[in-house]
Order: sequence, then structure tokens, then C-alpha cells
Amino acid sequence: MARKIVAGNWKMNLNRDEAFALVSEITGMLKDEEIRDLKVILFPSFIHLGAIVQLCNGDSRIHVGAQNCNDHAAGAYTGEIAASMIQSYGANHVLIGHSERRSYFNESGDKLSQKINMAIQYSLTPVFCIGELLEERNSAIHFKIIEQQLTNEIFHLSPDDFKKCIIAYEPVWAIGTGLTASPEQAQEMHAFIRATISTKYSKEIAEQTSILYGGSCNDQNAKQIFALPDVDGGLIGGASLKSRSFVNIIKSLP
Ligand code: PGA
Repeated sequence: MARKIVAGNWKMNLNRDEAFALVSEITGMLKDEEIRDLKVILFPSFIHLGAIVQLCNGDSRIHVGAQNCNDHAAGAYTGEIAASMIQSYGANHVLIGHSERRSYFNESGDKLSQKINMAIQYSLTPVFCIGELLEERNSAIHFKIIEQQLTNEIFHLSPDDFKKCIIAYEPVWAIGTGLTASPEQAQEMHAFIRATISTKYSKEIAEQTSILYGGSCNDQNAKQIFALPDVDGGLIGGASLKSRSFVNIIKSLP
């Protein structure tokens, strides 16, 4: 069984006080919840990372990650952040391959593979995002696109390293648009991703890989999406910026 996870991607939102307030509301609300094997990951901006790790220290169910890392270990890359720096602040996850990074920052498959290597080298769990564009779905090549992203960008990992990763399926047309994949669309793609992992690695590894859904997931639709057999939780953007809706989403895990 794969671990159930809800992750909040804050993107480039929330100033210092807003970020701190959101974390204290979330930790406060979760304190009263006896949610068993719960795993929550918060992805704040780099600038808040160290402080938010400290704020979440009291609750072992809450993890903190970075939204990106550089593909080099260190050096003359002004403005960039290395995986080792993220690790040194006590964060333990990193988003890699988010569609906004792919499209606005032109991150290529090779660069993403390198970033995954960096994350693994510094003991950060990669949350690797894949997803097709609307025109790719409309041309019925969405399965091919997802298979290519997996094959070209993350399947270079050894089975032992792949086991450390989380996959997030985020159809690009559903991100921030209010459009959500239908339960049928989400389930068939998640099942396809699991089958592809099984073919490359093993059935056991495929069954243990957490595959999260992302794209306009909110507290109204989370329960239905999370109940799908191959969906192991969600990567939440907009709805993770309000404590009540985010905690309601967490409580929607089966
Ligand atoms: P959204 O974003 O929930 O606002 O659609 C999801 C994401 O980009 O991870």
C-alpha cells in the first residue's frame, strides 16, 4: 500500500506574517485531529523555508519541502538554491518538474533528471510532477506524453532510488483553472502510471509508490478524488493557501 499524502504548494504566495499565520493555523487544527498515518507536506517559498521547518517541528506528521532546487551541487549560479542548502535547513522534500517550472522556466527533461539526482544525493524526497497539456489530451497522446516523461526523466533511477520518490500527476489544463480531471480521467491515468512503474521496476515498487493528483483539487472534490483506487492523495495549489480548506482536504483522505 502506498502512503497517503496531502501536499500544499504555495507557489509564489504569502508574505512572512501570512505564511507563519497559515502554518500555525494548520498545525493548530491538526493537533486536535487524531489522523493516524497522516503525512502532510508544505511547500513554501525558499525564503520562508527555515522558519517553517522550525514552526512544524512539533508535529512529525508535517513535512516541509522546497518548490525547486538547482541541478548543480554548488557554484557560480547567482540566485539559485542547491539541494544541500535545502537539506541543511531541515526540509526533506522538493518539488521537481512542476508544469510552471517546465513552461515558464524552460526546464528540460535532462535538467529535471539532474535535479532528481541532486535531491536523492542530499536525501530530499523528490515529488516529481508530470502531466499533459490540453492539446496533447485533445490529440489523444496523453498516455504517450506521461510515459515519455517517466521514461526520459525519472526512470534512470535505480529501483532503490526510485522507491524514495513521490509522483504527482497534474494535468496542465487542470492547474489553477478550476477544471478538474473527472474521476474516470484521474483513475485511468493513475492506473496507467502505476502499470508503467510496474513494467519498469516491479509490481511491489509500483504498489508502494505514492501517486498524488493535482489540478484544482479543493475541499469540495477531494473526497471523491482521494477515494479512487490509484490516487494516494493530492498536491494542492490554490486551496492550500487557506487553513480551513487545506485541513478539510487533509481530512478527506480515506
Ligand atoms: P491548483 O495547483 O490546485 O491551484 O490547481 C496545483 C499545483 O499546481 O500543484
